[in-house]
Amino acid sequence: MQRAAARALRGARTLPVRARSAGTGPPPRGLLYERHGEPPAVVQLKDLEVAELGDSDVHVKMLAAPINPADINMIQGTYATLPPLPAVGGNEGVGEVLEVGRRVTALKPGDRVIPAVNGLGTWRTRGVFPQETLLKVPSDIPVPCAATLSVNPCTAFRMLADFESLAPGDSVIQNAANSGVGQAVIQIAKASGIKTINVVRDRADLPKLVERLMALGADHVVTEEMLRKPEMKDIFKSIPKPRLALNCVGGKSTTEMLRHLQPKGTMVTYGGMAKQPVMVPVSAFIFRDVRLRGFWMSQWRKDHAQGEPRLRRDGMDRDSVTSMMDALFQLIRRGQLSAPACTQVPLQDYKAALENSMKPFTSSKQILLL
Ligand SMILES: NC(=O)c1ccc[n+]([C@@H]2O[C@H](COP(=O)([O-])OP(=O)(O)OC[C@H]3O[C@@H](n4cnc5c(N)ncnc54)[C@H](OP(=O)(O)O)[C@@H]3O)[C@@H](O)[C@H]2O)c1
Repeated sequence: MQRAAARALRGARTLPVRARSAGTGPPPRGLLYERHGEPPAVVQLKDLEVAELGDSDVHVKMLAAPINPADINMIQGTYATLPPLPAVGGNEGVGEVLEVGRRVTALKPGDRVIPAVNGLGTWRTRGVFPQETLLKVPSDIPVPCAATLSVNPCTAFRMLADFESLAPGDSVIQNAANSGVGQAVIQIAKASGIKTINVVRDRADLPKLVERLMALGADHVVTEEMLRKPEMKDIFKSIPKPRLALNCVGGKSTTEMLRHLQPKGTMVTYGGMAKQPVMVPVSAFIFRDVRLRGFWMSQWRKDHAQGEPRLRRDGMDRDSVTSMMDALFQLIRRGQLSAPACTQVPLQDYKAALENSMKPFTSSKQILLL
């Protein structure tokens, strides 16, 4: 799978040249960047060449793809892995299979697919991808859910499952709780009977945001300032202190959140939205023996791409991609996991979508309609 991912990244070397090979009709279009920089300045909508459909390849018509912070960081050139340039932006999305190569048996025309790896370049109308870089999604999964499924809900699912053994009634605390990941954490935790304490930044329309997160299943929503207040004790009269903290921010937000973690609890850092380091008081290590961990979905996928799934003691195969995706599909079907609050934007309005995706306090993910 690692080789497939590398091939996919190379596949993203999509030059704005004469069209075609796979399929017919007008050339596909996509959001291409030829150099790193601020996305609205360096990203351009261009005609793309589609590679020849190889025996193990799949020709996909993309339907929708979100703009995530990692996509922005890739274009800025600050992300941990960067595709060769020029590259098509976008790592998540959903598409429909148009045609498949001779050796492809797991997919057929009409199937819905999402990326199984990072770096596919999903902001395009059509593309040819190696079959191993795609996952099939049942057609009853709504398009906005499928388009936003392969990164954020998977990250939320893994962080809730892999670091602490949580039982119904236990609690989790997280910052940036209104992020795509945060909304998925609230819903997946709720479906498992786990209580959530959700930290957001203060804003003019805070009551509206609190109401929205409570409607998703949040048990408590507090601002970063409230984390320091004695009233926090009231929360812990009805629920236990969290065994797990999920950190998407860094800086002061993280230090304050850590104060509420149970002794021997774990804080998992998965994002750094404040672009500031994590500061941990010495006392948290000495007197509470807290554990600090990190999580990266791309690494988890690489680690779980090959070999037999590891069965847990209860015999459940929760560690495989298939079982994780099945669990997420079930949650979606039962109405327990929805797409993040979003704004759907036609592809030609991509500049506004890129700008809006970088604005603070918007609480709405931009989804490009392709
Ligand atoms: N490690 C992994 O595998 C993994 C997987 C998925 C995502 N991530 C990371 O998780 C983060 C969130 O991704 P997403 O797609 O869920 O994001 P998103 O939906 O775009 O939400 C961004 C969140 O960040 C908050 N935020 C923005 N600037 C901030 C700042 N300076 N200080 C504090 N909070 C700030 C926003 O809050 P406001 O409303 O207050 O602006 C919002 O809650 C990103 O850093 C992303 O790269 C990591």
